[in-house]
Amino acid sequence: MWVADMEFATPKVITDALKERIEHPIFGYTAAPLTLVSAVTDYCANRHNWTIDANCLYWVPGVLPALTAACQVVAKKGTRAEENEIIVFPPVYHPLLEIPEKLGQTRVDVPMIYSNGQWSLNFELLEASITNKTVAILLSSPHNPMGVMFTAEELYQLASLCTERKIVLISDEIHCDLILHDDKKHIPTALAAAEHHHSVITIMSPSKTFNVAGANCSFAHITDPCLLKKFQHECHYTVPLVPTLSYTVAEAAYANGWQWHSELIDYLRANHDYLHAAINDIDGLSMDRIDATYLAWIDTRHLTKNLKLDDTNAFFTHAGVGLSPGSQFGDSNYQRLNFACSRKQLEEGVDRIRQAIAKR
Ligand SMILES: Cc1ncc(COP(=O)(O)O)c(C=O)c1O
Repeated sequence: MWVADMEFATPKVITDALKERIEHPIFGYTAAPLTLVSAVTDYCANRHNWTIDANCLYWVPGVLPALTAACQVVAKKGTRAEENEIIVFPPVYHPLLEIPEKLGQTRVDVPMIYSNGQWSLNFELLEASITNKTVAILLSSPHNPMGVMFTAEELYQLASLCTERKIVLISDEIHCDLILHDDKKHIPTALAAAEHHHSVITIMSPSKTFNVAGANCSFAHITDPCLLKKFQHECHYTVPLVPTLSYTVAEAAYANGWQWHSELIDYLRANHDYLHAAINDIDGLSMDRIDATYLAWIDTRHLTKNLKLDDTNAFFTHAGVGLSPGSQFGDSNYQRLNFACSRKQLEEGVDRIRQAIAKR
């Protein structure tokens, strides 16, 4: 129940599209089909109320290579890597913590604030943390691992700050179609701050939503022509082309996957509600309701203290439940549990946790 993919079969519209595509026996170098480009522009317009220019799209085989390329292109010309500071908001999906370091850049942490059951951005610390070496902010929206959706005001404030301080907002929106509430809608960062769109690099993908992470098809949307050119240049030769069949997967998902998606969200919401009640019923554990993703962020600090655990993640693994340790994301008080599985499996996971605690 750790890595962020689902135990559900990929929608039939995708496997059918793949079957049809393999009947055409040419798998040479392939650019994004125009039908996919229209499916994506329609998807942005219809689902996110976001009108995009197809000329601003660049296809990449995965969000992480896109984030890495984005961090590289924002570096100041003629500087050493470490002279470029990238701001992140921990606890956060660990590659966002690792990418700047891997590139030799300087990561600057601006931890999220937790108050009254809500996580929010610390704007005061953020403003104080931006220096003349800062080149970008890496954002996960909705935020993995806490499942937080940012408000339009927060996104606007972030993007306008980036414009003002001449830095780039790299917005990883891979979880944007996993909103668990009917009355809440994902707001693309570049839309929330429309007049600051040139400061934003948006990265999206069908991979989490349709359980096709192994297909590796993502896109970057960059409206600043100079930044887009640099991004394309950076990806050239170092980032492979999107595999031919992955375009087929993405097009089928964006064009025809929404009925399946609506059933998925109902199932995930019910799992979330079950898990929320079950976890909060176990002594020493607690979790808040989340807005998005299928990842529960479980506060285990009381359990760790009560049971005097040296390694809380190992305790759960020993009980037969594999979770992601919060320390990976920057907060060892938590464990992350993936609830995108059958209810039966989820109940079994909860039972194992409950029994292991009772036996201790
Ligand atoms: C916020 C976030 N970004 C990126 C990724 C990985 O994207 P990809 O597999 O397309 O590189 C994940 C996967 O869990 C994620 O949660």
